[in-house]
Amino acid sequence: MKRDLRRLLDLGREDVEWVIRAASRLKADRKAGRPSKPLEGMSLGMIFQKPSTRTRVSFEVGMVQLGGHTVVLAGDQIQMSRGETVADSARIFSRYLDALAIRTFAQEQVDELAAMADIPVINMLTDKYHPCQVLADLFTIYEKRGSLAGVKVAYVGDGNNMANSWLNAAGMMGFDLRVATPKEYEPDTETVESALSHAKESGASIELLDDPKKAVASANVIYTDTWVSMGQDEEAKKRLADFAGWQVDQALVSLAAEDAIVMHCLPAHRGEEISAEVMDGSQSVVWDQAENRLHAQKAILILLIREDAKKLFL
Ligand code: CP
Ligand code: NVA
Repeated sequence: MKRDLRRLLDLGREDVEWVIRAASRLKADRKAGRPSKPLEGMSLGMIFQKPSTRTRVSFEVGMVQLGGHTVVLAGDQIQMSRGETVADSARIFSRYLDALAIRTFAQEQVDELAAMADIPVINMLTDKYHPCQVLADLFTIYEKRGSLAGVKVAYVGDGNNMANSWLNAAGMMGFDLRVATPKEYEPDTETVESALSHAKESGASIELLDDPKKAVASANVIYTDTWVSMGQDEEAKKRLADFAGWQVDQALVSLAAEDAIVMHCLPAHRGEEISAEVMDGSQSVVWDQAENRLHAQKAILILLIREDAKKLFL
């Protein structure tokens, strides 16, 4: 049975723990110069309907480091842009590739590709979710703290694809998450309900707030993201006005735990959702976080492409 990563919830808690362990091993191997090529001769197709820096480079480099290679397809240069259906395209890609990754607008497009393809489909960001980012972020928290147990995460800003992905993560992994957004910028209702339902089993504490100060009080991780996501440029002026006062600045960070780390998926807009001082300050882990996309995604690729992944990395 092929596996997809359409959203974080396509994985189980044990898979996420495995990804963190495997990412850690792959990172150590890379730093020690020990090559590991479990995807020798394999091909990953990558469709981009939106721009990308980190995701594109980390997947391309990661696939090469694992012994495979990538085929990068700009959304406007494939026949899907001229009306070839998603279903037909999925069938074609399945005849050439070992896995397919896509960055697009509608989550439904990823779901349809995954349903119709015989190969694993990976969501590289939709308007709704960014599962590869949150997996790299969980790995980063694990690396910085030694465990996810007992961590308190405060997400401050727009209730966007990152906020939704954090809700998925907290519900599944059982940590504390406070999501603070201005009114009318709350995360997706269905995702909130699903996270609350998962929390009953995992023991997570999940709160939605409209006050950034309350959200960060005693938090170990402060997370923020842009106020204007890709595809929202026409709303930029209104959004910048509505988010006034929501910046993660030093005053806000000082309300969190003394050793709290500050995270941002990047790209950042210094002076908007995060101050330059915080972004470049001693509590910021954003560069390690960006590097960890590479290691976490190598683990994701192995998990989805190699049926024996869990025998390769215990
Ligand atoms: N964080 C992230 O996905 O970055 P890119 O948009 O540069 O890929
Ligand atoms: N919320 C942002 C994340 C970018 C990685 C966006 O969708 O543009």
